[in-house]
Amino acid sequence: MTTKLTSEVEQQLWNAAEAAAALAYAPYSDFHVGAALLTSEGEIVSGCNVENASYGLTNCAERTAVFRAIVEGKLSKGVSIAAIAVVHRDHQSCTPCGACRQVLSEFGLNAIVLYEVEGERKQTTVNALLPESFQL
Ligand code: THU
Repeated sequence: MTTKLTSEVEQQLWNAAEAAAALAYAPYSDFHVGAALLTSEGEIVSGCNVENASYGLTNCAERTAVFRAIVEGKLSKGVSIAAIAVVHRDHQSCTPCGACRQVLSEFGLNAIVLYEVEGERKQTTVNALLPESFQL
């Protein structure tokens, strides 16, 4: 079920994502991204992109947030992602990449995705970004 976000919680997600973007490790692309997810239990967990000299090993902000939430015990089989905000440090346009869409689909097809395009805040769902995603 898609959760209705209050404007207060929505702003908390943007703030947490922006704080994470400021911590991004992106010396190669200089594209600093932060993400903050809200679990169905009401917890907020953030992540940033972490690049590597071996470029393909880079981890996006969204996946960092998901993996961090798992190891912190805040996301699990019975707990889903209600929403996730993704933001570039300097507000360049940024939507979740294909790999992140698949990872997010594991934990919440109905999750709300907040993102920015040309400085404008937008809202969609994981299901809309990745229709008929692979599920086992
Ligand atoms: N990146 C993210 O962290 N999230 C996205 O949604 C898109 C791309 C990162 C990966 C890489 O470190 C940099 O942005 C440029 O692709």
